[in-house]
Amino acid sequence: MPTRRSLLAGLATLPLLPRMGLSASAPHRLRLAPAPIQIAPAQYGKTDLWGVNGSVPGPALRARRGERLRVEIDNALPQATSMHWHGIRIENAMDGVPGLTQDPIATGEVFTYDFALPDAGTYWYHSHAQSVEQVERGLQGPLIIAEDEAPDVDQDLVLMLDDIRLAGDASVDAQFTHPHDRSHAGRLGNVMLTNGQMEASFPVTQGERLRLRLINSANARIFALGLQGLTGWIMAYDGMPLPTPEAIPERMLLAPAQRIDLIVDVSASAGEDAFLIQFERDGGYAQAIFPVSAGTSTTRGTPAPLPPNPDHPIELSDADTVTLRMEGGAMGGMQSAQWQGKAQGMRALAQAGQFWAFNGVVGRPDKPLVRASLGQTVKIAMVNDTSFPHAMHLHGMHFAEVLPDGSLGPLRDTLLMMRGETRTVAFNAHNPGKWLLHCHMLSHHAAGMGTWVEVVA
Ligand code: C2O
Ligand code: CU
Repeated sequence: MPTRRSLLAGLATLPLLPRMGLSASAPHRLRLAPAPIQIAPAQYGKTDLWGVNGSVPGPALRARRGERLRVEIDNALPQATSMHWHGIRIENAMDGVPGLTQDPIATGEVFTYDFALPDAGTYWYHSHAQSVEQVERGLQGPLIIAEDEAPDVDQDLVLMLDDIRLAGDASVDAQFTHPHDRSHAGRLGNVMLTNGQMEASFPVTQGERLRLRLINSANARIFALGLQGLTGWIMAYDGMPLPTPEAIPERMLLAPAQRIDLIVDVSASAGEDAFLIQFERDGGYAQAIFPVSAGTSTTRGTPAPLPPNPDHPIELSDADTVTLRMEGGAMGGMQSAQWQGKAQGMRALAQAGQFWAFNGVVGRPDKPLVRASLGQTVKIAMVNDTSFPHAMHLHGMHFAEVLPDGSLGPLRDTLLMMRGETRTVAFNAHNPGKWLLHCHMLSHHAAGMGTWVEVVA
């Protein structure tokens, strides 16, 4: 049976078709449904994943900066769901947060997301409902917004890095609310995946220039990454171009939900393999393999920076400042006397799976952490008073870190806060609405680490 797309393609040959029928605004339709897929080696069975149009991760959605994206989400899951467009400076009603910006999409329902794309860059989509389970089972995919003029590269590759925790029979470990995960580092997987595969391979030729879009879609894993046989530059963080490309360090940390865009040249010789390496305590592992065949190795210089996205200037001099103290978790933090739940309440919270607090409040409060007026600069001083790292993500707007010398770091939507660190971020409150601010270690968010900010027009 022809799909809607092939029908449109067929019609396109007719001379009288109105222009509109050819525009890029035809909606994507994504069906979310159980999808058994073979990811473990063949001697194991299939894994009980939940796919987007039958695949994990879901298809890469591609559009151009300035276009609108329309996506119909068709929920054929046994649970209610929602879709979040991570990093897009989106209209609030399309942000996909149940209970804050929309009702959950019930089983059997279709919800249409329809939003403008102000920025080019590397983004991703993922379920924002029962996300510890839904993102783990596969409801995630790349969202790639093209620049008006693409950089000069030979291949543009998306590498979605994930880990998944499988049981001995290759089924997804179903203990999604395990108290140890919730109170410690979150749900870490035991199988590492790139684009849903244990041994992802990307054939390249010697001397080729590649754009690598790295996306960390894992529930809680902080990837420590390096390259072998590839040399180049960091071009963008979390979708936002750096004004000057930076040399790639030996190790790059990529926290859950963060992205890095690289431009690299294949420096390995023909017949060798180049690697994206994932470092663990005991050494480096191949997270992706790039078999190299013969090519013409022309040397090219430093690439031009990617074109900037629209600027919303951060004015530190008239900023409103709030503090966000992160508390709780195992190994000391839960003893803090400032908690709302101190004394007996603490035990009840732990029994309810709630282990963390922001400013003494467990879970999303009724009132926002800060209410800002449109265009105002807001500063949030974040204090990690816990024994674990956290990946702090703001919806709807990008922030910059205020560095110790008072200058601003790169724009990001997710900041990795190591234990004991205090770091301040600032953003221009340019996008009206109710925006979540939470830890992207998904078990931590489910166990209390979520608040929100409001921007009033
Ligand atoms: Cu990636 Cu609250 O989201
Ligand atoms: Cu956390």
